[in-house]
Amino acid sequence: MTGRPILPLTIDRRRTASLQDQLYSSLREQIQTGQMAPGSVLPSSRDLATDLGISRNTVIAAYDRLTGEGYLETRERSGIFVNPEFGRPKPAARRTPLKPRHRIAIADASTALREPQPFRLCQPDVRLFPLALWNRLRSRALRRLGHRLLHYQSAYALGLPVLRQALAEYLGESRGVRCDWTQVVITSGSQEALYLLSQILLKPGQSVLMEDPGYPGAKAAFLRAGAVLQSLPVDEHGAIPPSDVDGVSLIYTTPSRQFPTGASLPVTRRMALIEFARKNKAWLIEDDYDSEFRYSRPPLPAMHSLDAGQRTLYIGSMSKVLFPSLRIGYMVVPQSLLPAIEELRLTLNDHGPLIDQVTLADFLQSGAFYTHIRRCRKAYEARLDTLLTAVARHSLPLTFPHTDGGMNQAGYFVDTRINAIRISARLKEAGFDIPALDVYAQQPVAAGLVFGFTAFDPRTIARAVADAAVIIRDGI
Ligand SMILES: Cc1ncc(COP(=O)(O)O)c(C=O)c1O
Repeated sequence: MTGRPILPLTIDRRRTASLQDQLYSSLREQIQTGQMAPGSVLPSSRDLATDLGISRNTVIAAYDRLTGEGYLETRERSGIFVNPEFGRPKPAARRTPLKPRHRIAIADASTALREPQPFRLCQPDVRLFPLALWNRLRSRALRRLGHRLLHYQSAYALGLPVLRQALAEYLGESRGVRCDWTQVVITSGSQEALYLLSQILLKPGQSVLMEDPGYPGAKAAFLRAGAVLQSLPVDEHGAIPPSDVDGVSLIYTTPSRQFPTGASLPVTRRMALIEFARKNKAWLIEDDYDSEFRYSRPPLPAMHSLDAGQRTLYIGSMSKVLFPSLRIGYMVVPQSLLPAIEELRLTLNDHGPLIDQVTLADFLQSGAFYTHIRRCRKAYEARLDTLLTAVARHSLPLTFPHTDGGMNQAGYFVDTRINAIRISARLKEAGFDIPALDVYAQQPVAAGLVFGFTAFDPRTIARAVADAAVIIRDGI
């Protein structure tokens, strides 16, 4: 025994980095700086572990990582070597050892996560979400179902039955959607539902009639499928049912609350759209993204309830009622579409996250879901009031025609010649997120700005309106 370490490595148990990370970084640095020559042999994992006083598994894991990244190579029955292809660095580089690449610690992740800026659209106030309760339900699910929740479950590409059943019940009670639970498909947000439907229902060149102005996420999904978009004009009541358009394969609409104008589609127009779809043998997508937030009167039942779901494909989301990063949405479709959806889902992502699906099912069944909606509804109603009061106090020349609910408010300039795009760009420079209506439109649209108000507390709303008002008035 010489007492010399077999490799000049330093491992410090007091550091927060794991032993495996420390060993990995030290070895990598030695290879990068040429202190360990290309082609040189490494000690066996057992010898190095004994020498450093750490577990052999730690050494094996560090070796595996470096092998995976190409720094080391394993030769059968000979041992582990520094990859001979790994060129020697120039002498200068040897004198100034490379700093290990900056790695973002898990704790630093919070600095990379962004908060929405006023008045970002369609953002729930996630601080109202009962995170502690959610965590308890999640832990309980893991205790109850244990490792069984961790397997692949390709049989559930359409979602876990317990969640599909809970949602079918909720949709029946609250939205009048009559369906068998097997017609409910769980998706990764309603965006995935839009994507899946576009892919299986549309062929390149087919025509989609899309609300104008309308939701860009839907537009992107239709264009990705090669569809040709046609404008479905929108007025103060929502989509105007077409009378003389031919060859339409799909119609996209947000009848509960037109995105982004906020109009609620009257029943007569709903019936007319369904009739149009029937005549054209077209599908009708009903994107019901925020109907839970109606303040002064209850929401109209879903359009799906008017044609028993024969042509209407209903899409909903947990992003607004719970929180967007959950990435759970759903759709209600006829049984005939299920095999194609299942096949595509299996190809795309096999199935959605099971732990969250079980937790969400428990959240729904425990009644916490409804309590949370009531709490948000109350808070958002007050925030809408704050927004409108502040707009009036600062004499903003905007009118808000649809103030009975939703998460966003479209404000129209009284002077229709105003360039809302330019004003929105100035607001953006000042840190505001207030898009012009034009952003959502295919055809020229009235001059207006859209404000999402739900994610911000009343003080923030009042202050932000005061600051934004200065920029808006300046830009007029
Ligand atoms: C009209 C509309 N549909 C769908 C979505 C997508 O929501 P998700 O987060 O469920 O994908 C949004 C998001 O803002 C939306 O505004």
